[in-house]
Amino acid sequence: MSNESLANLLREERRFAPPADLAANANVTAEAYERAKADRLGFWAEQARRLTWAAEPTETLDWSNPPFAKWFADGKLNVAYNCVDRHVENGLGDRVAIHFEGEPGDTRSVTYAELQREVSKAAHALTELGVRTGDRVAIYLPMIPETVVAMLACARIGAPHSVVFGGFSADALATRIEDADARVVITADGGYRRGKPSALKPAVDEALTRPGTENVRNVLVVRRTGQEVAWAEGRDVWWHELVDRQPEQHTPEAFDAEHPLFILYTSGTTGKPKGILHTTGGYLTQVSYTHHAVFDLKPESDVYWCTADVGWVTGHSYIVYGPLSNGATQVLYEGTPDTPHQGRWWEIVQKYGVTILYTAPTAIRACMKWGDDIPAKFDLSSLRILGSVGEPINPEAWVWYRKHIGADKTPVVDTWWQTETGGMMISPLPGVTETKPGSAQIPLPGISATVVDDDANEVPDGSGGYLVLTEPWPSMLRTIWGDDQRYLDTYWSRFANRYFAGDGAKKDDDGDIWLLGRVDDVMLVSGHNISTTEVESALVSHPKVAEAAVVGATDPQTTQAICAFVILRGGAAEEDGLVEELRAHVSKHLGPIAKPKRILPVAELPKTRSGKIMRRLLRDVAENRTLGDVTTLTDSSVMELIQSKLPSAA
Ligand code: WT7
Repeated sequence: MSNESLANLLREERRFAPPADLAANANVTAEAYERAKADRLGFWAEQARRLTWAAEPTETLDWSNPPFAKWFADGKLNVAYNCVDRHVENGLGDRVAIHFEGEPGDTRSVTYAELQREVSKAAHALTELGVRTGDRVAIYLPMIPETVVAMLACARIGAPHSVVFGGFSADALATRIEDADARVVITADGGYRRGKPSALKPAVDEALTRPGTENVRNVLVVRRTGQEVAWAEGRDVWWHELVDRQPEQHTPEAFDAEHPLFILYTSGTTGKPKGILHTTGGYLTQVSYTHHAVFDLKPESDVYWCTADVGWVTGHSYIVYGPLSNGATQVLYEGTPDTPHQGRWWEIVQKYGVTILYTAPTAIRACMKWGDDIPAKFDLSSLRILGSVGEPINPEAWVWYRKHIGADKTPVVDTWWQTETGGMMISPLPGVTETKPGSAQIPLPGISATVVDDDANEVPDGSGGYLVLTEPWPSMLRTIWGDDQRYLDTYWSRFANRYFAGDGAKKDDDGDIWLLGRVDDVMLVSGHNISTTEVESALVSHPKVAEAAVVGATDPQTTQAICAFVILRGGAAEEDGLVEELRAHVSKHLGPIAKPKRILPVAELPKTRSGKIMRRLLRDVAENRTLGDVTTLTDSSVMELIQSKLPSAA
């Protein structure tokens, strides 16, 4: 990072103390940091006791063959039992586990007792289809209760699942089925998106024509939309025909703590997707603990809502495994935030009295763009904690979130983690931390992270470098499925004995951590490293800009030139002089070196389905290249729109 741009973000001086009542009743207090520091492994051994084990572990960490970790290796447990049955046994069977809200407005509440019956039946159904412990099952479903049931049923019988996001194409699905060598695919006829049924089954049919998918014996199909489906006799089975007739009781078997729980492919903006492998005991310990600590969950009174799709790790860890292991009541919403109107999310918060909301910066910025008046129409007073995840949150979006959604009273917790880390790693604690807009701040108790320079030296406070994790953690990935070498190369070879996260970061004068985006999102301009995130933040702090994406385009004079794509707020007109005004604004905020060479107002930005801006494509545009692979975009027509805006001389 250049010193000028570093200094700038460090200039963020707004501070928000935890509300007194929250601090006084917090699940986790400052003492946890001390305890974990004094005895890190003892701390995690204690957290493991949050779970119910069939055989209590006596070992905590086995790091004798780094970086291949074993946590709680001699313990045995069943994940589905921990997420469902034990709550029923504790007399909580009538508690609602899931308030399902379909996009068309249909609703369903599923209690823990009902969930236990559904998971049990689904486990028997998979067994009837010949699924055995260790077999992989691919899940390609919309956001419906059966998705949660399917994942838990797999966990219950020890069959690792590979959930593939329902927005992915047949190609992406086929690659993932092949890589994991899945034996069964669970899908639906379709789901509802943007006000209409959106088919899923045809993509499965197509994927299964591809070489490498021959080992799939059966396709289990949930009927959600009622749309027509092609049927392969002998292969395809309706969920309601097979699952509904199964016994409601099922005895969960205890598996080793290191038994594989799931494979999840990282969204892969570049290269072949990596199958991230997570296992049982350590994973469940960390997602359960972090969900309890970071959201201060009070299961008897809170209504929790994570807006992520279950096809991403956020959905795995903070819709399914974390919340359910903690006996939470949560909302599961099928659709998009603006169907049938831009207040849909806020209507849901009001309807269910949501107390904890967990979402992504991209969604927050979309809501900012739609206007403050939309959330203002709803009663959001039930909210008490707001979370953010997925990318750096600009201070402006953070403050907007707190002010317009959280009535300027709720803590905002910016949680940094990755598919690979399995659970949250760096985040404020809502009852402890004085928060700073835009910063994830400090590693959670029991987590060791720091920022290093190119030579692996820890940087002093006030400087930037690379984020690394310095000690193994319970929910860490165990390897890349079928590719130990790639696991070593990707994460453990950049620095000796340090996990390389691939994110740029810096420490401020208090030692708090600020995430600066992927290191490949750092531009080199006339010898200065400038982070795309900082220029984006500066642009978004201008009242006329709703969203910005910045890339470095090859430039003969300056190595790279900063090129910005901006969406104007509330459809603000693209007046004369605005581009100049924005360039001057960035210059004033970050220094002249960070002034974008070009700024292009656009209507939309290209995003992956997990909401990450695909800078690679914008770089193609900025450098006048033919576009690379667009298959992981939510909407590929966005790129045509952007290209049509380019001055032909560019
Ligand atoms: C990458 C991981 C973690 C679940 C969703 C994404 C970025 C994530 C933050 C945050 C800054 C963040 C990082 C990270 N990221 N959370 N709070 N602040 N950046 O999972 O798809 O595996 O992506 O998302 O760049 O490396 P993922």
